Amino acid sequence: MTDITPPITFTPERLAKAQEIIARYPAGKQKSALLPLLHLAQEQYGWVSSDIMDYVAGLLSILPIEVYEVASFYTMFHLDPVGKHVIEYCRTGPCCLMGGEDVYGHLKQKLGIDTGETTPDGKFTLKEVECLAACGWGPVFQIREKYYMNLTNSKVDEIIEELSKD
Ligand code: FES
Repeated sequence: MTDITPPITFTPERLAKAQEIIARYPAGKQKSALLPLLHLAQEQYGWVSSDIMDYVAGLLSILPIEVYEVASFYTMFHLDPVGKHVIEYCRTGPCCLMGGEDVYGHLKQKLGIDTGETTPDGKFTLKEVECLAACGWGPVFQIREKYYMNLTNSKVDEIIEELSKD
Protein backbone atom coordinates (compact mmCIF):
# COMPACT_ATOMS: atom_id res chain seq x y z
CA MET A 1 0.00 0.00 0.00
CA THR A 2 1.29 3.46 -0.91
CA ASP A 3 1.80 5.89 1.96
CA ILE A 4 -0.07 9.05 1.03
CA THR A 5 0.76 10.96 4.23
CA PRO A 6 2.76 14.02 3.25
CA PRO A 7 6.22 14.07 4.84
CA ILE A 8 6.51 16.09 8.02
CA THR A 9 8.60 19.16 7.42
CA PHE A 10 8.63 22.74 8.59
CA THR A 11 7.71 25.45 6.12
CA PRO A 12 10.87 27.18 4.78
CA GLU A 13 10.21 30.12 7.13
CA ARG A 14 9.84 27.87 10.18
CA LEU A 15 12.86 25.83 9.20
CA ALA A 16 14.96 29.02 9.00
CA LYS A 17 13.60 30.07 12.40
CA ALA A 18 14.37 26.62 13.84
CA GLN A 19 17.94 26.80 12.54
CA GLU A 20 18.36 30.26 14.00
CA ILE A 21 17.13 29.02 17.40
CA ILE A 22 19.39 25.95 17.32
CA ALA A 23 22.40 28.16 16.49
CA ARG A 24 21.91 30.07 19.75
CA TYR A 25 23.29 27.11 21.70
CA PRO A 26 26.83 25.73 21.86
CA ALA A 27 27.69 22.61 19.87
CA GLY A 28 26.36 19.53 21.62
CA LYS A 29 23.72 21.53 23.54
CA GLN A 30 21.20 21.74 20.70
CA LYS A 31 18.65 19.93 22.85
CA SER A 32 18.13 23.28 24.60
CA ALA A 33 16.17 24.35 21.52
CA LEU A 34 13.60 21.62 22.03
CA LEU A 35 10.79 23.67 23.61
CA PRO A 36 10.83 26.47 21.02
CA LEU A 37 10.96 23.91 18.22
CA LEU A 38 7.95 22.09 19.65
CA HIS A 39 6.10 25.41 19.75
CA LEU A 40 7.01 26.01 16.11
CA ALA A 41 5.75 22.53 15.22
CA GLN A 42 2.49 23.00 17.08
CA GLU A 43 1.98 26.39 15.46
CA GLN A 44 2.24 24.74 12.05
CA TYR A 45 0.34 21.52 12.63
CA GLY A 46 -1.98 22.41 15.52
CA TRP A 47 -0.69 19.47 17.57
CA VAL A 48 2.41 17.31 17.89
CA SER A 49 2.03 13.75 16.61
CA SER A 50 4.73 11.13 17.06
CA ASP A 51 5.81 11.76 13.45
CA ILE A 52 6.21 15.43 14.21
CA MET A 53 8.18 14.66 17.38
CA ASP A 54 10.42 12.32 15.36
CA TYR A 55 11.02 15.13 12.89
CA VAL A 56 11.97 17.53 15.70
CA ALA A 57 14.29 14.88 17.17
CA GLY A 58 15.98 14.61 13.76
CA LEU A 59 16.50 18.37 13.56
CA LEU A 60 18.14 18.32 16.97
CA SER A 61 20.06 15.07 16.48
CA ILE A 62 18.55 13.63 19.65
CA LEU A 63 16.53 10.50 20.33
CA PRO A 64 12.76 10.62 19.70
CA ILE A 65 12.16 9.49 23.30
CA GLU A 66 13.84 12.69 24.50
CA VAL A 67 11.22 14.69 22.62
CA TYR A 68 8.33 12.47 23.78
CA GLU A 69 9.37 12.92 27.41
CA VAL A 70 9.29 16.71 27.17
CA ALA A 71 6.17 17.03 25.00
CA SER A 72 4.19 14.73 27.27
CA PHE A 73 5.29 16.59 30.41
CA TYR A 74 4.07 20.06 29.43
CA THR A 75 0.32 20.41 29.04
CA MET A 76 0.68 23.21 26.49
CA PHE A 77 1.62 20.62 23.89
CA HIS A 78 -1.29 18.77 22.33
CA LEU A 79 -0.49 15.14 21.69
CA ASP A 80 -3.79 14.54 19.90
CA PRO A 81 -5.68 16.63 17.35
CA VAL A 82 -7.58 19.46 19.01
CA GLY A 83 -10.43 21.79 18.18
CA LYS A 84 -10.14 25.38 17.01
CA HIS A 85 -10.27 26.73 20.57
CA VAL A 86 -8.44 24.78 23.25
CA ILE A 87 -9.80 25.77 26.64
CA GLU A 88 -7.20 25.04 29.30
CA TYR A 89 -8.83 25.41 32.69
CA CYS A 90 -6.95 25.61 35.95
CA ARG A 91 -7.77 22.78 38.30
CA THR A 92 -5.42 23.81 41.10
CA GLY A 93 -6.59 24.54 44.66
CA PRO A 94 -6.96 28.34 44.72
CA CYS A 95 -9.12 28.35 41.58
CA CYS A 96 -11.23 25.53 43.00
CA LEU A 97 -11.68 27.47 46.25
CA MET A 98 -13.00 30.36 44.17
CA GLY A 99 -15.75 28.20 42.69
CA GLY A 100 -13.81 26.61 39.86
CA GLU A 101 -15.45 23.21 40.17
CA ASP A 102 -18.93 24.68 39.64
CA VAL A 103 -17.83 26.91 36.80
CA TYR A 104 -15.92 24.15 35.03
CA GLY A 105 -18.88 21.83 35.51
CA HIS A 106 -21.06 24.42 33.85
CA LEU A 107 -18.53 24.79 31.03
CA LYS A 108 -18.53 21.03 30.39
CA GLN A 109 -22.30 20.95 30.40
CA LYS A 110 -22.51 23.89 28.01
CA LEU A 111 -20.09 22.31 25.56
CA GLY A 112 -21.47 18.81 26.07
CA ILE A 113 -17.98 17.37 26.48
CA ASP A 114 -15.67 16.27 29.25
CA THR A 115 -12.01 17.00 29.84
CA GLY A 116 -9.82 15.77 26.99
CA GLU A 117 -12.69 15.80 24.51
CA THR A 118 -13.52 17.94 21.47
CA THR A 119 -16.97 19.11 20.45
CA PRO A 120 -18.38 17.32 17.39
CA ASP A 121 -18.16 20.54 15.35
CA GLY A 122 -14.42 20.71 16.07
CA LYS A 123 -14.66 24.13 17.70
CA PHE A 124 -13.69 23.43 21.30
CA THR A 125 -11.36 21.11 23.16
CA LEU A 126 -11.23 21.01 26.94
CA LYS A 127 -7.98 20.48 28.80
CA GLU A 128 -7.30 20.44 32.52
CA VAL A 129 -4.05 22.15 33.54
CA GLU A 130 -2.19 23.07 36.69
CA CYS A 131 -1.89 26.61 38.06
CA LEU A 132 -1.87 29.28 35.34
CA ALA A 133 -0.24 31.80 37.69
CA ALA A 134 -3.35 33.95 37.95
CA CYS A 135 -4.47 32.56 41.32
CA GLY A 136 -5.77 35.93 42.55
CA TRP A 137 -8.25 36.07 39.69
CA GLY A 138 -9.64 32.53 39.75
CA PRO A 139 -11.38 30.63 38.42
CA VAL A 140 -9.30 30.96 35.28
CA PHE A 141 -8.96 29.42 31.89
CA GLN A 142 -6.66 30.15 29.01
CA ILE A 143 -7.28 29.97 25.28
CA ARG A 144 -4.00 30.40 23.37
CA GLU A 145 -2.32 33.48 24.86
CA LYS A 146 -5.51 34.96 26.31
CA TYR A 147 -6.58 34.54 29.93
CA TYR A 148 -10.23 34.59 31.02
CA MET A 149 -10.42 35.34 34.72
CA ASN A 150 -12.91 35.71 37.58
CA LEU A 151 -15.07 33.27 35.67
CA THR A 152 -18.72 32.78 36.52
CA ASN A 153 -21.31 30.66 34.77
CA SER A 154 -22.72 33.68 32.95
CA LYS A 155 -19.24 34.82 31.86
CA VAL A 156 -18.60 31.31 30.52
CA ASP A 157 -21.86 31.51 28.54
CA GLU A 158 -20.83 34.83 27.01
CA ILE A 159 -17.33 33.63 26.11
CA ILE A 160 -18.54 30.41 24.49
CA GLU A 161 -21.28 32.19 22.59
CA GLU A 162 -18.78 34.74 21.27
CA LEU A 163 -16.21 32.12 20.25
CA SER A 164 -18.89 29.94 18.66
CA LYS A 165 -19.40 32.66 16.05
CA ASP A 166 -15.88 32.10 14.63
FE1 FES B 1 -5.63 28.70 39.28
FE2 FES B 1 -3.23 29.50 40.18
S1 FES B 1 -4.61 28.17 41.11
S2 FES B 1 -4.28 30.15 38.43
